[in-house]
Amino acid sequence: MRIHIKGALEKELQSMQHIVDLYNMSATLHLEPESESTVSITFSEEEKSNYLNVTGVFDHKHGEKVVKSFQKHAPAMATEKDRVALAKQARAHVLVLILNEWTNTKQPWGTLTGIRPVKLWHKLYQEGMSSDNIHRYLVNEFLVSDEKANLVRSIAKRQQQVLPDLYALAEGVSIYIGIPFCPTKCAYCTFPAYAIPGKNGPVATFLKGLHYEMEEIGGYLKRNNIPVTTIYFGGGTPTSISAEEMDQLYAKMYEVIPMERVREVTVEAGRPDTITPDKLQVLRKWNIDRISINPQTFENQTLETIGRHHSVEETIKKYHLSREMGMKNINMDLIIGLPNEGVPEMERTLQETKSLMPESLTVHTLSFKRASKMTKEKEKYQVADGNEVSKMMGLTADWMEENEYYPYYLYRQKNILGNLENIGYSMEGKESLYNIIIMEEVQTILGLGCGAASKYVDPHTKKITRYANPKDPVSYKNRYKECTDKKLMALNNIYTNKAVPK
Ligand SMILES: C[S@@+](CC[C@H](N)C(=O)[O-])C[C@H]1O[C@@H](n2cnc3c(N)ncnc32)[C@H](O)[C@@H]1O
Ligand code: SF4
Repeated sequence: MRIHIKGALEKELQSMQHIVDLYNMSATLHLEPESESTVSITFSEEEKSNYLNVTGVFDHKHGEKVVKSFQKHAPAMATEKDRVALAKQARAHVLVLILNEWTNTKQPWGTLTGIRPVKLWHKLYQEGMSSDNIHRYLVNEFLVSDEKANLVRSIAKRQQQVLPDLYALAEGVSIYIGIPFCPTKCAYCTFPAYAIPGKNGPVATFLKGLHYEMEEIGGYLKRNNIPVTTIYFGGGTPTSISAEEMDQLYAKMYEVIPMERVREVTVEAGRPDTITPDKLQVLRKWNIDRISINPQTFENQTLETIGRHHSVEETIKKYHLSREMGMKNINMDLIIGLPNEGVPEMERTLQETKSLMPESLTVHTLSFKRASKMTKEKEKYQVADGNEVSKMMGLTADWMEENEYYPYYLYRQKNILGNLENIGYSMEGKESLYNIIIMEEVQTILGLGCGAASKYVDPHTKKITRYANPKDPVSYKNRYKECTDKKLMALNNIYTNKAVPK
């Protein structure tokens, strides 16, 4: 279906298209020509005593009509640029009102696309708004549902509890270390995940580069007395490398990174098929007891369909082994909406989870990432519709509450089933600090290794800049020195000439 848009700016069309896409009505927006369109939406605006009044009229060729308006506060001191932005927000608002009525549905996140809801909550709170007023603001200005606004509030409050210095962390950094190897590639995944072909191959070369990055960056942090708050080994699957390689990696970490003020080290051990007694021994040796073992689902048939090549039984066995060998804080990742799964499969997965009771659970909603096998071969995979996915999500949320897991971080992604979200739940006091820090962008994250993204948060201005390391081991091998230099330069920029990199 073609929708003709009148009274909006050309550069606005893309964000309006994102909103329309949420309604799954296969509609495309066009500025012209009007004659070829089935529907037209005409926006008009009028300014009156510090309010901008935007009206949208939806006209269908067959005669249906929907008219909606929204008043946006436009203070007298607002600049021309502010006014343009306010008008754009008001048109997005009116568009959602129109589409809600036309499709007889409601978008739980309203007009919040591309905005981190909990981060927005913290921003408003720091500006002096009360929790109740933030709630009203999210509901009235962004059309967020009451339920989602409550969820955002409870997550934000928990984060404040878990990290009392949440708003003062910007002087320090956290470190992400990306290990790009996995036993097999899962069909939904676009993370770096290369197979390990044999000894002295890409793993050894990769680790050489990674050790170099750790030495250089660690040295900079030590020389400038910059505290490290958390460290996260992700990937890929960092337990894909050998026990000996893991041992050398953690030894290097303790040698070169200032560890004195580190509050948490996590190793993503996601694939149960990579977990062995000797690797667990190495983790214990280096006092790392927070790991993630990811079932994704407790249905063997689904694991096969998504190409995970491990069984449910192996997940359970490796979980118990990890416990026996001293892992005290275990996270598990689950995905809602995997192929051929619905409410009964989700119920079984939650039932199995109950017999394990990990300290935390991250619940993802399946996302069709552009470059994944699942997206490229979409017709081969049957997935639940938005309604069923919402039911699975509701079921999961109820289960978490009954079992005393509390939501502590949340993030949304594009192309996620049902336009829902990913939520991290945890038992009281077992929240992952790293997950909160990365989601709320409260301090710089330095990404080392493959596919690792660095995000610099300027401690003074809070301005964010980004830098991405190469995703594949071959490019990484050729570029790790240059990547390290770039990171040192960026660090120097935000820690304003405290020192010059060596
Ligand atoms: C970087 S992955 C690594 C975890 C580890 N390699 C594993 O597979 O167990 C982190 C988590 O993101 C989730 N994930 C990855 N791709 C996803 C997708 N397309 N949709 C939903 N969740 C996804 C999975 O739950 C996964 O455990
Ligand atoms: S989901 Fe995990 S194991 Fe699967 S390919 Fe991605 S990173 Fe590797």
